[in-house]
Amino acid sequence: MTTSDDEEINPVTMLLLDQKDDDVSQPNNNSNIINIAEVVVPTAVEHQSYHLNSITSTLVIRQLPSQGLSFQLWPAATTFVKLLDSYTPSNTDPFSLTVTNAVTSVNCRQRLRILELGSGTGVVGIAASAILGADVTVTDLPHVLPNIEFNADVNKNVVGTRGGGVHVAALSWGKVEEMEGVGREYDMVIGSDVVYHDHLYEPLIQTLKYLLLGDGDGERVFLMAHLRRWKKESGFFKKAKKWFKVDVVHEDGPSGKSRTGVVVYRFARKDAVFR
Ligand SMILES: C[S@@+](CC[C@H](N)C(=O)[O-])C[C@H]1O[C@@H](n2cnc3c(N)ncnc32)[C@H](O)[C@@H]1O
Repeated sequence: MTTSDDEEINPVTMLLLDQKDDDVSQPNNNSNIINIAEVVVPTAVEHQSYHLNSITSTLVIRQLPSQGLSFQLWPAATTFVKLLDSYTPSNTDPFSLTVTNAVTSVNCRQRLRILELGSGTGVVGIAASAILGADVTVTDLPHVLPNIEFNADVNKNVVGTRGGGVHVAALSWGKVEEMEGVGREYDMVIGSDVVYHDHLYEPLIQTLKYLLLGDGDGERVFLMAHLRRWKKESGFFKKAKKWFKVDVVHEDGPSGKSRTGVVVYRFARKDAVFR
């Protein structure tokens, strides 16, 4: 049943509003990338360029809006990419400290290992891999994976030059065999705009319990960028707080017609201690 909030706040409208205001996606000055977009674009395909100042490189992300919301860029993804792009180890804001914590936990292993849940187009995981030189497993429902694989392939050189690597895998929240398939050996778990339909709250929490509370090395956290749309979402946070310590590590101000901005939460074991 829809609430008055559901009618008032439409994710698609907000998505489009935020995309117009998006200051991460710069007009594309790289003539090669402009050519890719111009040559390939039929009406149902859109290419978005994300210029990453921190590594002076541009990612190109294919969206397929006619295939549904999993194939579009959501506002929280833009915030996440922007925060990663501003990250340096000397930053002392809570978001950066969380990333630094994960980076410094790597020890003798070669690369930071990140798992992204509900990746959609894959932009956040691909950006994280390029910016942090990380080994990133980007996951989503099986039917979404071909577009993520396309985006991982198009950006393979940017990611590879930085020493990163992107792997694509199916992970339907709550499905034990798929959770075991990707395992839990990660230094950090990330996600953006993954809390929206209430029937997905419980499977997402089951997945987080497997990833953060199960055996494994290190103290893993889940960094989640979220744009609140419905009052019912407080139900997700209430359930999550039974299992996890949940802190806000970043807050955008309201943008466009949206009353709230994107908030980034950190989920960790209840006994976790942070700087
Ligand atoms: C609103 S979209 C956000 C996509 C992307 N993270 C972004 O911010 O642009 C939510 C994503 O969660 C994925 N998703 C929905 N239900 C899921 C489930 N049961 N298991 C895994 N992923 C799921 C969708 O396919 C979609 O890609």
